[in-house]
Amino acid sequence: MKITMIGVGYVGLVTGTCLAEIGHQVVCLNTDKKKSARLQKGKVHIYEPGLDKLVQKNLKAGRLRFTTDYAAAIRDSLIVFIAVGTPSRPDGQAELKYVFQAAESISQHMIDYKVIVNKSTVPVGTGEKVKEIIQRKYSGRFDVVSCPEFLREGSAVTDFLRPDRVVIGANNKKSANLVLDVFKPIRTKKLVTNLKSAELIKYASNAFLATKISFINEISNICDLVGADVEEVAYGMGLDKRIGTSFLKAGVGYGGSCFPKDVSALEQIAGFNGYDFKLLKAVIRVNNNQRSVVVKKAKKLLGSLRGKRIGVLGLAFKNNTDDIRESAAIDVIRLLQKEGARVTAYDPVASKRAKEVLRRVKLAGSAYQACQDAELVVIATEWQEFQKLDWRKVKNLMRVPQVVDGRNILDQNTMRKLGFHYLSIGR
Ligand SMILES: NC(=O)c1ccc[n+]([C@@H]2O[C@H](COP(=O)([O-])OP(=O)(O)OC[C@H]3O[C@@H](n4cnc5c(N)ncnc54)[C@H](O)[C@@H]3O)[C@@H](O)[C@H]2O)c1
Repeated sequence: MKITMIGVGYVGLVTGTCLAEIGHQVVCLNTDKKKSARLQKGKVHIYEPGLDKLVQKNLKAGRLRFTTDYAAAIRDSLIVFIAVGTPSRPDGQAELKYVFQAAESISQHMIDYKVIVNKSTVPVGTGEKVKEIIQRKYSGRFDVVSCPEFLREGSAVTDFLRPDRVVIGANNKKSANLVLDVFKPIRTKKLVTNLKSAELIKYASNAFLATKISFINEISNICDLVGADVEEVAYGMGLDKRIGTSFLKAGVGYGGSCFPKDVSALEQIAGFNGYDFKLLKAVIRVNNNQRSVVVKKAKKLLGSLRGKRIGVLGLAFKNNTDDIRESAAIDVIRLLQKEGARVTAYDPVASKRAKEVLRRVKLAGSAYQACQDAELVVIATEWQEFQKLDWRKVKNLMRVPQVVDGRNILDQNTMRKLGFHYLSIGR
C-alpha cells in the first residue's frame, strides 16, 4: 500500500521504516530539508538500536523515501499517518498545534479518498477536530482513524514489528479494514474500537503503567523506613499473575517524552470533563518527589553537598536511547546543583543532547572519567554499561567510595564487600 508518514521523530521514523520493512511503499514527510536529505542518504538523527540499518535496507530496496514535498506525498498515498509531537503545555494539556498543522497541510493537497491515521498521542476528540480541519478545505470523502502507538524507545523496532496489540479506532468498516490491511503482516491481536476509545486506550495504558511505577516507589519509601527490600517485595507481588512483575521497578521515578505528559494530559482531560482524577494527581506528586529521594540519600552520605564533587552516571531518561525529555537524571543533576554540588556526568549516547539543556555540568568521555576524584557517584539511568563497570577500578578512582544507585542496578552485597558506602532505593 502507498503510505505517507508525517513526522520523522522517534515514532514517525520507526513506524515509517517498519511499514516499509513489512512491504509497503512509504514516503516520510518532514519540514526540514537538510534532515530529509540526510535521511535519504541513510543517516539517522536519533539513537534507536537497529533503526539505521533498517532505514538503509529499505532505502536500498526502494520502499522508503524521505521528502519535504507535501503535495506529491499526499497525492500519491491512500493512507496518511500523522506522527508529530504532542508535548505538554505549561498547564499540563497536550499541545496539539503540530497535529493541527499537519491536518491543515494534508487538507491543502487532498484530491481523492484517503484515510488519515493518527499515531500521535492525543486527547479524546482530536480525531474529530482533525476531520473538521480537513473539511474546511476538502469536501470529498475521507476518514480519520486513531491508531495509537505503544512502542518503547530503546526497543522501538522490535516493539513495532512484534507488538502486544494493534489498536484501530475507526468510525466505519471501510477505514478500519484499510488500516487492518496495513498491519496485515504483523501477527498480533488487532483490536478495532471506535475513534474515541482508541484515543483513550493510549492515555489509560500509559497512566496505568505510571501508576504502577509510583506505587512501587511508594512501597520502596516504606521499605526504607521498615527495613524491607523492595526488590523482594516487588518480586513477591509480581508472582501473582493478576499483578505481574513488569513495571514494578523502584527508582528515581518515570520520565521521558510520554509518561509525564500523558499522565498530566489525562488528568487535564478528566478535569475539563468535570471529573477530579485524584489518583493521577497523586501519581504525579509521588513521581516528582522521587527525584528528591536520591538527593536525600546523597546528603545522608555526604552531609552538605556544597562544593562536593559528584559523578552522575546517565543522562537519558532510560537506557538504550539518547532521549533526554523529562529525564529523571537531568532533574536529579539540577537538584544536586541547587544544593551546591559540582557535577560531572556521563552517558553512552545522550551527552550531546544533554549539553543543550544543562548548565555548569562537566560532561565526561567515559564512566570512569565521571567517577574520577568524585566523593559520590549517583546512578541515574539503567544502562547495562554501568552494571558492567569494573567497580574495583571505580573505587580506586574515587576520592571517597560512595554510591547512590537511583536505579537499583547493582548488587548491594558485592558493592559493600568492595568497600563502597552504597545506598539504593528501598533496600
Ligand atoms: N517517543 C515515544 O516513545 C512514543 C511512544 C508512543 C507514542 N508516542 C507519541 O507519538 C507522537 C510523536 O512522538 P515522538 O517521540 O516521535 O516525537 P518527536 O518530537 O521525536 O518527533 C516529532 C516529529 O514531528 C515533526 N513535525 C512536527 N510538525 C510537523 C509537520 N507539520 N510536518 C512534518 N513533520 C512535523 C518534528 O519535526 C519531529 O521530527 C507523540 O504524540 C508521542 O506522545 C511517542
